[in-house]
Amino acid sequence: MLNPLRVALAVLGLGVLLSACADDGAPAAAAPSTAVVSPAEFQALLAAADPDKGQVLFLQCRACHSLEAGGANKVGPNLHGVFGRKAGLAPGYAYSEVILQSSIVWSAATLDEWLARPSDFLPGNRMVFVGIRSPGDRANLIAYLQRETGAQ
Ligand code: HEC
Repeated sequence: MLNPLRVALAVLGLGVLLSACADDGAPAAAAPSTAVVSPAEFQALLAAADPDKGQVLFLQCRACHSLEAGGANKVGPNLHGVFGRKAGLAPGYAYSEVILQSSIVWSAATLDEWLARPSDFLPGNRMVFVGIRSPGDRANLIAYLQRETGAQ
């Protein structure tokens, strides 16, 4: 025997379930990806960047990276001389295979993409860092890295 109330509740339940799915799907699909700006916009941001503001942002990196010439490798490699160098070449540091096999050469532009979201830029790398969302913050940090790592 069909109980009309149970049928109604079942239909209602299904409706709630379906609308919940639809609600779940929509924001995920519309979620903005981390903004990497156009090369021209990035050059403008970098030209106006403030390395002193970047120094504060570097607090997020400092536990894992040193910047000075001959500085220690920590969880991550020493970054002195990183600009213009192929990825994976800090002396004495054991990189992941994906970095070693990559053809990335570090520049302000490639660092901008890396720092926006390392796991998207080079899937499978071992740098556990979610990324810096603001393009302006990334430019300030990159200006600081240029100043502190002996970039030409
Ligand atoms: C939790 C530790 C950790 C944090 C925090 C971290 N890194 Fe790293 N980083 C690593 C590791 C580990 C690697 C090597 C990844 C690999 O071998 O796959 C790496 C690699 C790099 C490289 C590539 C170096 C090369 O020689 O190819 C750069 C550049 C870099 N990190 C910059 C940064 C900056 C800038 C920050 C701060 C925004 C940061 N990292 C935050 C651990 C970290």
